[in-house]
Amino acid sequence: MAINLKSQQEIDCMRTAGQLAAEVLDVVTPFVVPGASTEELDKICFKHITEVQKAVPANVGYRGYEKTICASVNQVICHGIPSPNKILKDGDIINIDVTVLKDGWHGDTSKMFLVGKTQPHNERLVKVTQECLYKAIEVVRPGARLGDIGAVIQQHAEQNHYSVVEDYCGHGIGKVYHDEPQVLHYGKFGTGLELKAGMCFTIEPMINQGKKHTKLLSDGWTVETKDGRNSAQWEHTIAVTEQGFEVLTQRSEENFA
Ligand code: MF3
Ligand code: CO
Ligand code: CO
Repeated sequence: MAINLKSQQEIDCMRTAGQLAAEVLDVVTPFVVPGASTEELDKICFKHITEVQKAVPANVGYRGYEKTICASVNQVICHGIPSPNKILKDGDIINIDVTVLKDGWHGDTSKMFLVGKTQPHNERLVKVTQECLYKAIEVVRPGARLGDIGAVIQQHAEQNHYSVVEDYCGHGIGKVYHDEPQVLHYGKFGTGLELKAGMCFTIEPMINQGKKHTKLLSDGWTVETKDGRNSAQWEHTIAVTEQGFEVLTQRSEENFA
């Protein structure tokens, strides 16, 4: 399995796409409030990508998916389909996941939002899941291995008495949306593919309050926790650089080394 390495010019294109995806999350933020429907949030993102960014919402038409974002509330792990019937309520937690395609290159990112006043146990889940992503990003450098990424995520989640979803993973990304390699969010240090400068992939841990098991709903997309307890996810698109890493989908509120 040979992983294609991107040139500096190609990484520049990836950064452009990544920054557009990051901007979408910033643009939608003020609208993530109690009473909003996930369909409204989808429309805001679609409009911004197509009309302002003059870019393409990569999820639309992807394997028959019809929406711009995935909107995954509470016990939904990932791939929640926006709907006018899904109204956010005070105390919900929601992941919004968006992928922008610009000039043939993909930027894929997601973040969690706390809707209104949320319970401390949910805030803790959201915070620890973000820490899982950040700790994983910090290990990225040439010579590190994919297993190191999985191991730090698993270690931090389990230390906090959470479980790591194993049925979905991060992925290589570039001109292809979901490319090799698979980036597992669990694993063993010192194992797996060795990272090289020029690799680009996502890290997108899904962390559950209860058990790791998932169930796919009959709509063919929505993935929920089997035990009905809540789940959180954060995602960035990363490039491996000579010095370590670059977070291509970094938002202004974030400060990476
Ligand atoms: N953005 C998701 C990921 O992180 C994939 C969504 S595919 C869709 O890889 F079709 F559901 F939009
Ligand atoms: Co995504
Ligand atoms: Co992804």
